[in-house]
Amino acid sequence: MDQDTLKKLVGQRAVEHIEPLLGSDSIVGVGTGSTANCFIDSLAEIRDRFDGAVASSEATAARLKGHGIPVYDLNNVAELRVYVDGADESNLQLQLIKGGGGALTREKIVASVAREFVCIVDESKLVDVLGAFPLPVEVIPMARSAVARKLVGLGGQPFYREGFTTDNGNVILDVHDLHILDPCRLEDEINAITGVVTQGLFAKRPADLLLVGRANGAVDEIRAP
Ligand code: A5P
Repeated sequence: MDQDTLKKLVGQRAVEHIEPLLGSDSIVGVGTGSTANCFIDSLAEIRDRFDGAVASSEATAARLKGHGIPVYDLNNVAELRVYVDGADESNLQLQLIKGGGGALTREKIVASVAREFVCIVDESKLVDVLGAFPLPVEVIPMARSAVARKLVGLGGQPFYREGFTTDNGNVILDVHDLHILDPCRLEDEINAITGVVTQGLFAKRPADLLLVGRANGAVDEIRAP
C-alpha cells in the first residue's frame, strides 16, 4: 500500500477507536496535516455522534467546517475527550516530533487538555531515535537570531523556514542534526530559551496510543509504556 492509502487507513482506524468513547456532548480535538486530514474526512461520516471539534490550526478548522462539523474555541470548552493528530516522527515510547506543517503550538495546547492523545502515522514515521526529522521551533520574530545561536549551543543546526508565518504570527526555525537521546531534557532546555514560543518535541506529554499503518495494510496499536 502507498503512503496516502496508509494515511486514510489510520484515519479510519482512529475514528473506529474513538467512536465508542463519544457521546452527543463530546468535543474532539483535531490535529493538522495530511494524515489528520484523512482523519477529518472519516470523522465526518459519524458527525451526528458528537457535538463538535476544537481545531489545532486555521486549515483544520476550515476542513472541519467544510464537512459541517461545528468548531469551538478552546476557551469555551471544558473537556476534550480525545485528541487525534499525525506526527513527523515517533519512537516506541510514543514521544514525537511534530510541527512539520508549522501548527505545533496549537497542537501542543490542544493535546495538553485532552484526556487521550491518539497519534496516527504510517510506518515511515517510526524511529529508534528522534531527530532525523528537523525539529521545528516556533519563535517570536525579533528573537530569531538570538534563539538560533542558543540552538547551535545545544548541538543543532537551525534553519529559518523562509516565507512561513505561523497561525500565531511567529516564525519557525527547523533544527537539523539533533540526535535526541533524552527528549524530555531537550524539551526543557529549548523551552527555557527566551523567545521560544514552543517546540515540536512531544516528550513530556507523549501520545497515549499510536496507530501505525503498515505497508501490508495492517494497523498496529502501540500503547504508551
Ligand atoms: C503539523 O504541524 C504537524 O505536526 C503534523 O502533524 C505533522 O507534520 C504530520 O503531518 P503529515 O500527516 O502531513 O505527515
